[in-house]
Amino acid sequence: MKGVILAGGLATRLRPLTWVTNKHLLPIYNKPMIYYPLESLAKAGIKEVLISSSPDHAGQFTNLLKGGDDFGVKLYYSVQQNPKGGIAHAIGLAEEFAKGEKIAVVLGDNIFNYDLKPTVDKFTKKDKGAMVFGIRMPGMESKHYGVIEIDQSGKVISIEEKPESPKSNIAQTGIYIYDERVFDFIRKQKPSARGELEVTDLNNFYLKEGSLDCTLLDWWIDAGTSHDELLRANNLVADKVITGQL
Ligand code: G1P
Repeated sequence: MKGVILAGGLATRLRPLTWVTNKHLLPIYNKPMIYYPLESLAKAGIKEVLISSSPDHAGQFTNLLKGGDDFGVKLYYSVQQNPKGGIAHAIGLAEEFAKGEKIAVVLGDNIFNYDLKPTVDKFTKKDKGAMVFGIRMPGMESKHYGVIEIDQSGKVISIEEKPESPKSNIAQTGIYIYDERVFDFIRKQKPSARGELEVTDLNNFYLKEGSLDCTLLDWWIDAGTSHDELLRANNLVADKVITGQL
């Protein structure tokens, strides 16, 4: 399995911090943000990782991460010219890199302490399917994300993108695992109302054929949505690192 980290976008919500750098390079406690998803993929035993960024600050990623030796992985870089294409569009650009292998995709601002290795090892042996990772949220907070509804056995029943009335309190995080067919599904996608190829629509192809699984995480943070979340992520990560949980 190969890894893909999506680190593009304009991050207009984090200006002025993002005028001269990419959001995923901003510090979270003692490291640049992108270190966290990269280390999570490396820990899962993934040896080749593609970092997809935006044209403006792409060179800063190579300056920082170089060939990937410090992380025990081989790094590849690509640029998403259209930062508003959506997550599924950005995943689609990894087709040549994937070369027919399964992929684990992580959004570059997602920080979590879940050990992906057992899931990656199990998934590598499966013939087909996809995996999403969810997190339970307080109150109606899940409605700001993709919302995953599961039955008592943990089977996924529905995923809806930012619904008005969420069917569950489980938010879809930015961690996904896909089989080799993912690029064929992306080619069938149409842009959503916000003009993007949505990752939720992509996941629904797998849901419809009954091959989508969901793993629930205990702790996860999307560090890049606002200045307040960035600050919260810094404080939470500092606490997790100091107490040895990350
Ligand atoms: C995207 C996905 C959403 C997911 C979220 C995780 O939302 O569309 O399903 O829950 O990432 O961070 P966006 O950040 O594009 O609004």
